[in-house]
Amino acid sequence: MSLPKAEVAALLAAARAGRDRAYAPYSEFTVGAALLCDDGTIVTGCNVENASLGLSMCAERAALFAAVAGGRRSFAAVAIAGPDGETTPPCGACRQVLAEFNAGLTVAFTTTDGHRIEQLDALLPVQFQGSNVRR
Ligand code: THU
Repeated sequence: MSLPKAEVAALLAAARAGRDRAYAPYSEFTVGAALLCDDGTIVTGCNVENASLGLSMCAERAALFAAVAGGRRSFAAVAIAGPDGETTPPCGACRQVLAEFNAGLTVAFTTTDGHRIEQLDALLPVQFQGSNVRR
């Protein structure tokens, strides 16, 4: 799905606003994410680190979990904003978790010179999905 430029800009702005709430005292690498839900709602998240470093949570998963907890499961796009001037694509764990709800989600992320837009199935090909789980 291709998003109109104005929507990409609005989503990236929401991701930057989320980034301003990041709790990242250990890495000092602040990240914000903004999920565009199919009903037009934007749900944001930020990374939340912990003194027990492995317990830290990425911005994308924080946004996704907040959206699901709020009753939303259909998403069109996510924007990710790392520190200004840094390229910040979603990590592998977040790609997998986002793919659970939309294998072809539109993903916009900040780069050294602006932003880049990809489809999630290009960032995470050959996805492990619900259909791969034996029940
Ligand atoms: N981080 C995210 O929030 N999202 C990503 O996709 C990559 C990494 C966070 C985790 C950690 O708090 C900091 O960035 C440095 O890795």
